[in-house]
Amino acid sequence: MSQWKGLLEEYKQFLPINENTPMLSLREGNTPLIPLENLSKEWGVEVYVKVEGANPTGSFKDRGMVMAVAKAKEEGSQTIICASTGNTSAAAAAYGARAGLRCIVVIPEGKIALGKLAQAVMYGAEVLEIKGNFDNALDIVRKISEQEPITLVNSVNPYRIEGQKTAAFEICDALGQAPDVLAIPVGNAGNITAYWKGFKEYNEHKQTGLPEMRGFEAEGAAAIVQNEVIEEPETIATAIRIGNPASWKQAVAAADESNGKIDYVTDDEILAAYKLLASREGVFAEPASCASIAGLIKQIQSGEIKKGSKIVCVLTGNGLKDPTTAMDTVEVKPLVLPNSEEAFMEHIKGGVHQ
Ligand code: F0G
Repeated sequence: MSQWKGLLEEYKQFLPINENTPMLSLREGNTPLIPLENLSKEWGVEVYVKVEGANPTGSFKDRGMVMAVAKAKEEGSQTIICASTGNTSAAAAAYGARAGLRCIVVIPEGKIALGKLAQAVMYGAEVLEIKGNFDNALDIVRKISEQEPITLVNSVNPYRIEGQKTAAFEICDALGQAPDVLAIPVGNAGNITAYWKGFKEYNEHKQTGLPEMRGFEAEGAAAIVQNEVIEEPETIATAIRIGNPASWKQAVAAADESNGKIDYVTDDEILAAYKLLASREGVFAEPASCASIAGLIKQIQSGEIKKGSKIVCVLTGNGLKDPTTAMDTVEVKPLVLPNSEEAFMEHIKGGVHQ
């Protein structure tokens, strides 16, 4: 049996790797591409989800972080720093721990999902909270990294984009070519930038074609759609609660060059997609991830996405990251029955719906 060796080893010909680059790995990448059998039939399209929650720290950030941390180590850096809505901090903390680097993460106070905070703490990062939002935190860590010998590992670090582009390679390998449409959540806009770069590079090497890039912001944080910075972004999808995306221009370019679009979805649409995906397909992704599904539903209804299209929705993070939103979204009222087999039997038989 040959084991998957992680992104740096598997895609080294496409990555900025030389003989001095440490081959850091938590065996990230190679994530499942799952067909949505039930919903595809209902919607009249062929939908797959790229389950990035299957990465070692439960999000797509591992792809970029393995590359960025390997390069930081190669360059002799001893400390990494990032601002984060949660997933970047979890990935930085894990790869920092693995590489033996000091890791400092700056997060918006009270606005990151429980699981992500638990990860940063467990992996041993120094967690600093800011009385402000992600955009404020990013401003601060950018300035610190310019003044101190500390490596910034947010997606403004170009190595992050290099690592993350590998997801596009995997999609092309799994399908034999690029899909018609790639639907993806947009926060700081690094990931849509990375996918577009990946699709273009693979197409140059292997003629795999190019998808329409369709990115989705949350309505309360839709800076790109509104074409203005949002000072106080707000959304249930805390991972994409960002009002001034760092890769704004690149996201617009990806949409324009590919005949795609940057659009928005409401929190209600995100939550509806979140529940639908879990209950109809057995796939549990965190709320921000489900912006891609919500966006797909919106654009099938508007006719922008044609019936019969082959679509890949990127599910950026694992549903278990954010148990609080799950518990608040569904009614959890377990029925308490007496300690008797008969009582259970009676309830179950009575409850069978034909
Ligand atoms: N989905 C999830 C689950 C995320 O954590 C993020 C970004 C995105 C989508 C958006 O990706 O920023 O590349 O457009 N999370 C960052 C973080 C900001 O700090 O974890 P993007």
